[in-house]
Amino acid sequence: MSLQRTFSIIKPDATRRNVTGAVNKMIEEAGLRIVAQKRIQMTEAQAQEFYSVHKERPFYGELVSFMISGPVVVQVLEGTDAVATYRGVMGATNPADAEEGTIRKALAESIEANSVHGSDSDENAAIEIAHFFTEDEIVG
Ligand code: CMP
Repeated sequence: MSLQRTFSIIKPDATRRNVTGAVNKMIEEAGLRIVAQKRIQMTEAQAQEFYSVHKERPFYGELVSFMISGPVVVQVLEGTDAVATYRGVMGATNPADAEEGTIRKALAESIEANSVHGSDSDENAAIEIAHFFTEDEIVG
């Protein structure tokens, strides 16, 4: 167990429904600290690059379109075992499989409009954070 950072996106379905505060409340109640946050409109190029690991998947084009369909909130979260802790708070990728008490169970609409993204490893957290934040924008 150690203090870590992870990267989070509050996705367009959640900004559209004005539930960014509800997401942040669940993040903070899980013991994670929001140490950087900004609301942005992603460009198509940014979304394509961010999700490039999925570019061979059949859902890639729709995923990119969805991620630029409205504003998102990009965040850096800090806490004990932040990557695993946040994945636990988010719940399963498909909200139909998400456990009670998770963000996706409470708020997500579908596997695509699933309200939040979180890094899947320490290594990817560092890469994803660097896509959107400079070190001086992160204040722990
Ligand atoms: P995320 O954690 O942001 O990473 C990739 C995203 O692809 C995932 O969340 C889902 O929202 C989205 N996605 C859309 N369709 C699928 C699918 N069939 N299987 C997995 N992920 C999907």
